[in-house]
Amino acid sequence: EHKHKFLHELPKCEHHVHVEGTLSPELLFSLAKRNNITLPDHFPGSVELCNERYDNFADLQDFLDHYYIGMSVLINEQDFEDLAYEYFKKAKSDGLHHTEVFFDPQGHVERGISIETVVNGLNKACKKAEEELKISTKLIMCLLRHLPVPNCIETIKSAHKYYNDGTIHGLGLDSSEKPFPPELFESCYKLVKENHPNALLTAHAGEEADPIFITNSLDLLNVTRIDHGVQSHRDDELLKRLADNKIMLSVCPLSNVKLQVVNDVKELPIRKFLEFNVPFSINSDDPAYFGGYILDNYIAIEDRFQLTGEEWVKIAKNGVYGSFIDDKRKEEIY
Ligand code: HPA
Ligand code: ZN
Repeated sequence: EHKHKFLHELPKCEHHVHVEGTLSPELLFSLAKRNNITLPDHFPGSVELCNERYDNFADLQDFLDHYYIGMSVLINEQDFEDLAYEYFKKAKSDGLHHTEVFFDPQGHVERGISIETVVNGLNKACKKAEEELKISTKLIMCLLRHLPVPNCIETIKSAHKYYNDGTIHGLGLDSSEKPFPPELFESCYKLVKENHPNALLTAHAGEEADPIFITNSLDLLNVTRIDHGVQSHRDDELLKRLADNKIMLSVCPLSNVKLQVVNDVKELPIRKFLEFNVPFSINSDDPAYFGGYILDNYIAIEDRFQLTGEEWVKIAKNGVYGSFIDDKRKEEIY
């Protein structure tokens, strides 16, 4: 119990949370009502049935099939602002100081919601969180890897103005991993890098797929961070490379259990990462779907691994160091 208090007080930063994945069943149904959205017949019809469904995802794709329907209730700028601000308040109450938030513009533009609506709503929530909650925030746009590359390129072009005015800070890559390897997206990452050399480049890699997806993301996409990356434990050379180059992995323990990447949190290669000095942070991914926010994920790791206070301090410092913030803000947090 006192360890849980220690974890609550530890200065935490989150680097892997999809704002659409913070849509709780309660908010989902209330927005469906507010926006007159009829959900498909096969979608769970109540909060209880949603929660039952969320205990039974077969894998990443099974989750995504539900998740893309869920986000169809998000229509107006206010919906995006409400969604993000609810997450910021919850994360703040968990002892969070800084968060880097993914969003999927294509998941909305595809349904006729403009990128302006999405970004303006999210940015309002970010500004409000910085003022009222005193946390720092960064928005990172993700490309949906199951969509055609030309569509991804168009999405990047429509976002140039937001990189230029400092509303969007980075590029990520998410959705169905195994059929859509990183090499498909070389031109996308190049386009962002050339136009916005200071943008953070990251990609989901090695969640379900082989460690080669991680290596290729580093080599071909020039990312400086890897989201998930848990499959790296199968390649010691890769672990050394991640450590030597301080490539941080944004690990999501409860997500990995819910999507059956592992059977239990205790199977995650946390000891091996510590042994190899691979920096990693602990994150919630899609907290409304996977049964816990950032502190729950910290507690899940502590319950299985009983880390020392020094190990926890090291993890927290790596999270601050690996954040996309300036040195002054890093010192404020730790
Ligand atoms: N993996 C890939 N795509 C996603 C995820 C994830 O864990 N969460 C939301 N989109
Ligand atoms: Zn993710």
